[in-house]
Amino acid sequence: MSTSIFQGRHLLSTRDFSRAELEWLIGFAEHLKDLKKRNIPHHYLEGKNIALLFEKTSTRTRAAFTTASIDLGAHPEYLGKNDIQLGNKETVLDTAKVLGSMFDGIEFRGFKQEHVEQLAEYSGVVVWNGLTDREHPTQMLADFMTIKEHFGKLEGINLTYCGQGRNNVQNSLMITSAILGVNYTNATPAELEPDPEILATAQQLAKESGATIRVTNDPIEAVVDADVIYTNVWAAMGEESKFAERVQQMSPYQVNAELVSHIKNPDWIFLHCLPAFHNTDTEYAEEIRQEFGISAMEVTDDVFYSKHAHQFKEAENRMHTIKAIMAATLGNLYVPSV
Ligand code: CP
Repeated sequence: MSTSIFQGRHLLSTRDFSRAELEWLIGFAEHLKDLKKRNIPHHYLEGKNIALLFEKTSTRTRAAFTTASIDLGAHPEYLGKNDIQLGNKETVLDTAKVLGSMFDGIEFRGFKQEHVEQLAEYSGVVVWNGLTDREHPTQMLADFMTIKEHFGKLEGINLTYCGQGRNNVQNSLMITSAILGVNYTNATPAELEPDPEILATAQQLAKESGATIRVTNDPIEAVVDADVIYTNVWAAMGEESKFAERVQQMSPYQVNAELVSHIKNPDWIFLHCLPAFHNTDTEYAEEIRQEFGISAMEVTDDVFYSKHAHQFKEAENRMHTIKAIMAATLGNLYVPSV
């Protein structure tokens, strides 16, 4: 019989876990962070093999799963889009059967939520969603851990997401805030408001936690009472063809010195899942500057490098939280209840 309520469970969405379970996972990640800082071994996954499937590029998610696996005593194997047959010569179902017979756990970053769900259904091993078109649940564990580290709590914190309502990070932030009792506002243009189904789900979950979940088209009104300002790229991966439209729609929502001057809480923090387009020091951003005449997109350097910025701590927390979910769902921990 399993001695952990987490054993064998997939993380496809934060909805897969209750509020108490998510809070426990964040607390466990804090513990693992402390062990790591003190060089204390924590080999909960000794001898396990972990498949890291990436259909899309990644820095943080790949690095976090790789280092987390190694710190836990497991062996990670990176299987990139051009390395395996998935999506070209082989179906997700067949890939799930094969990988599940060789690996103990599978991370999947890809284009479709249905694919991570199929992997979970057919592989027979634990599956973790490393980002799909709909959700980014491992990002959420790190984001809410970072908020808790700063404010010492989650309940009652006001989180404002200045960004388009129709992407995976927004969906996951809205849902996870609702579960955890965090008051959530999405500041977005009217034409990019969240999927009504996601909004309805979040509002339903919020009834239980006491969180408020709302959407506004007014960026100033959205930030005034914020404790946390979160933003994200204006065009998600795969949306690059819509760039001109997004620049025009999203410019009023840019997180810059003027916008954040309206925040009342002097102790507010800035978060970003990264990568961010905050200057023209990358080839991609320089191309954007030449085409659109803008030197920053969703956030400007005066915020990105300000004392309020916590995005690099948030990035580090990807590793600690991914370690927590991997160890909890695949390791032999004793967690009979939370
Ligand atoms: N935040 C995030 O998912 O980063 P990567 O795309 O670098 O993995």
